[in-house]
Amino acid sequence: MKKTILTGLRPTGNLHLGHLFGAGESYLKLQDEYEFFLEIADVQGLTDNFNNPEKVRKNVKEITMDLLAIGLDPKKVHFFIQSKIPEIAELTVFYSNLVTVSRLERNPTVKAEIAQKKELFGNNGESITYGFLGYPVSQAADITIFDGEVVPVGEDQLPLLEQCREIVRKFNSIYGEVFKEPTAVLSNTKRIKGLDGNEKMGKSLGNAIFLIDSEETISNKIMNAITDPNKIKKDDPANPEICMVYYYHKLVNKENVENVCRECKGGDRGCVACKKELINAMNNFLNPIKERRKFYEENEQIVTDILKDGTKIAKQRAENQMKKIKEAMMINYD
Ligand code: TRP
Ligand code: SF4
Repeated sequence: MKKTILTGLRPTGNLHLGHLFGAGESYLKLQDEYEFFLEIADVQGLTDNFNNPEKVRKNVKEITMDLLAIGLDPKKVHFFIQSKIPEIAELTVFYSNLVTVSRLERNPTVKAEIAQKKELFGNNGESITYGFLGYPVSQAADITIFDGEVVPVGEDQLPLLEQCREIVRKFNSIYGEVFKEPTAVLSNTKRIKGLDGNEKMGKSLGNAIFLIDSEETISNKIMNAITDPNKIKKDDPANPEICMVYYYHKLVNKENVENVCRECKGGDRGCVACKKELINAMNNFLNPIKERRKFYEENEQIVTDILKDGTKIAKQRAENQMKKIKEAMMINYD
């Protein structure tokens, strides 16, 4: 029997290159080795976007299509929608007794997010909702309702997994051994820098190339990318290591990257031509992904069915697990 792996994504925006080189590539490998549950975490998405339900609704399909476009195979991966599994919400309530408010406030991920919110909205404690503070509890329920053993996450999510393990230990010690303690595997060991040279590519940073960007958008973005500022004239020698154009050549133009490096250093390459070559390589890289995506856009019913089928399998699994949980907690009345 294959081990179960579970991960989730908030449906709050389209995927970009950071997701692709970070998480996406590791998902592609994992889908062959594990029974893979992939949660489209709409309920968690609403913790930050409760006043913008249209955004979450729209992005459920968008993000599913992005994930299919990068090559995740719906025969291997169970795509499901979080809100369609009410057992998750139920388990969240049970777990909420097993975690203290101060422990949640000390969770480094939550802490960092609260600090970020304060920076954005001012020092207003009232902006922190009960739902937001409790989302690690809900995420623990996401994972354990499927008996997830392995959880691929980014580094920023490790404290959430630690929190989940603590809740599991507490549950097992009080009610008996129901859950396995899940372990994390780092999925985005490769963090992609933004077009502006920022260490992180992100939607809110405005420095991302999205998988669905048009050729024109890609061209504009690359034309504006940060290069070696000391290179003024076309034949000035430059330092590719501080140039974002070179950085992306390394990712999507592997065949010619050595030439790019040598010619840049030798002053044999102008930045405009260099950017044009990158635009071309980027399109060659992204076009097959976009084509696959187009197929799903034109066959929306297939996407609906993939989500339905995955959700059905997830629901079955969650129901079985919930039976065991209720038995252990002595709230099985039938
Ligand atoms: N919190 C995760 C993120 O923002 C998304 C997520 C939801 C998740 N449920 C999960 C990740 C369960 C791992 C396991 O990226
Ligand atoms: Fe960057 Fe290319 Fe210009 Fe060198 S030639 S600085 S690699 S854009």
